[in-house]
Amino acid sequence: MRRPLMAGNWKMFKTPAETAAFFEKFLPLVGASAHADILICPPFVNLAAAVQAASGSAVGIGGQNLHWAKDGAYTGEISGGMLKAAGCRSVIIGHSERRQYFGETDETVLRRTVAALDAGLQPVVCVGERLEERKSGRTNDVLAVQFRDGIAKLTPAQFAQVVIAYEPVWAIGTGEVATPAQAADAHRFLRSQVRGVYGDDAAASVRILYGGSVKPDNIRGLMAQPDIDGALVGGASLDAASFASIVNF
Ligand code: PGA
Repeated sequence: MRRPLMAGNWKMFKTPAETAAFFEKFLPLVGASAHADILICPPFVNLAAAVQAASGSAVGIGGQNLHWAKDGAYTGEISGGMLKAAGCRSVIIGHSERRQYFGETDETVLRRTVAALDAGLQPVVCVGERLEERKSGRTNDVLAVQFRDGIAKLTPAQFAQVVIAYEPVWAIGTGEVATPAQAADAHRFLRSQVRGVYGDDAAASVRILYGGSVKPDNIRGLMAQPDIDGALVGGASLDAASFASIVNF
């Protein structure tokens, strides 16, 4: 049985003080949520505040990106070891905003994923098609390539640590959520790709999250799909009450 994972991606929002205030409200609302893993990924400068505020709770903290090198002359970058030392459990990799604005490719996704695993972090690897790709019927082709080049070169032992997030780019921050059926189709397809490379057990165990305009009022329909194992939530994770109600779907 796959345990749901409800993850919040704060993107470039909140200060350390706002982070502490969020947890003060959020933790009492999810204290009894034993049905799911909970993860919050704040900006790097808020990690210390988040780790401190979440300590003693079941809420894990993660980064939103990492560099593939262990250390070095890479101005502005953060390594997996640094995230681990700061108290992170996980890290988001290959978010479509990184692909779109910061030149992320399937090749760099793979390098970052290996680096995350080497640092002992759980990678949450994002894939998803753009609107024109969906409109032209290429959704599965795009997902297949992102999986093949960004994920499927991991060893089976490495892959066993990975969480996949399916995030159709046209649904991110747009208020336009994929229908449960559209999401379920993509999740089924991704699971079949996993099966092809890593076998039945890996396909049955890998968690595939849906992301893109997840809100308290659409989470239930999504989570009712057997192949959807949780959510990666942007905007609605910034508000304690709204993210708690998603977690407690
Ligand atoms: P959204 O973002 O929930 O604001 O659409 C999701 C994401 O980008 O992970």
